[in-house]
Amino acid sequence: MSSTNRGYDRHKVDFYVTPKRCIREFFSCWLDDLMGEFWDDQLSVGTDPDKAIWLDPCAGGDTTHKMSYPEVIISEFGADVDTIDYRQDSLAYRKEDYLLADVPQNYYDVIITNPPFYLAQEIIEKALRDVKDNGYVVMLLRLNFFGSNERLSFWERQLPVWTYVHHRRFSFTDDGKTDSIEYMHAVWQKNYSPDFTMLKVI
Ligand SMILES: C[S@@+](CC[C@H](N)C(=O)[O-])C[C@H]1O[C@@H](n2cnc3c(N)ncnc32)[C@H](O)[C@@H]1O
Repeated sequence: MSSTNRGYDRHKVDFYVTPKRCIREFFSCWLDDLMGEFWDDQLSVGTDPDKAIWLDPCAGGDTTHKMSYPEVIISEFGADVDTIDYRQDSLAYRKEDYLLADVPQNYYDVIITNPPFYLAQEIIEKALRDVKDNGYVVMLLRLNFFGSNERLSFWERQLPVWTYVHHRRFSFTDDGKTDSIEYMHAVWQKNYSPDFTMLKVI
């Protein structure tokens, strides 16, 4: 999602390109924080991100832009990333609506994306159903996603374990103009809803 260029064509499909630098900044903190987290018989994404199985369910990409998250995950970790996007001109392997997509259950270690704003909560909730037990769901969201009457019951049920607030504003467009709002990478863990989220400014 992006809060700039509201009248722009891209808004119709909510396709924005997440800067890879921001994704790398997030990974360098989160994977450090994950070190030492071990779950019975499961790999630690912190120590072995290359062995993790990743899904980007709104993967983006087009003729001039690569898919941001898969690009970083493949180049940094050499891991497998499955990709879905409902746009026919996206670079995703599966051109489908993620909300209707059958994905293998208890298979993905991490489901990660920058979701379209208007579907963000539904995508998070589906990802939390689809991800492996104790697996992670990571979403790039506007910081003010926390503030809404409709989402209060969702937060009460399922708070992210970690919240990484990016101190720099991002540019999601080729003209380099920065977005008008701060963003966070929020990280949920399946089957675990803490009383408080751990928040870092990165
Ligand atoms: C904000 S863009 C992010 C693109 C890419 N993840 C990135 O970070 O650069 C959101 C993407 O979600 C896709 N999308 C929107 N609704 C979708 C749905 N129901 N299922 C799958 N993809 C969807 C759009 O086509 C778009 O590529």
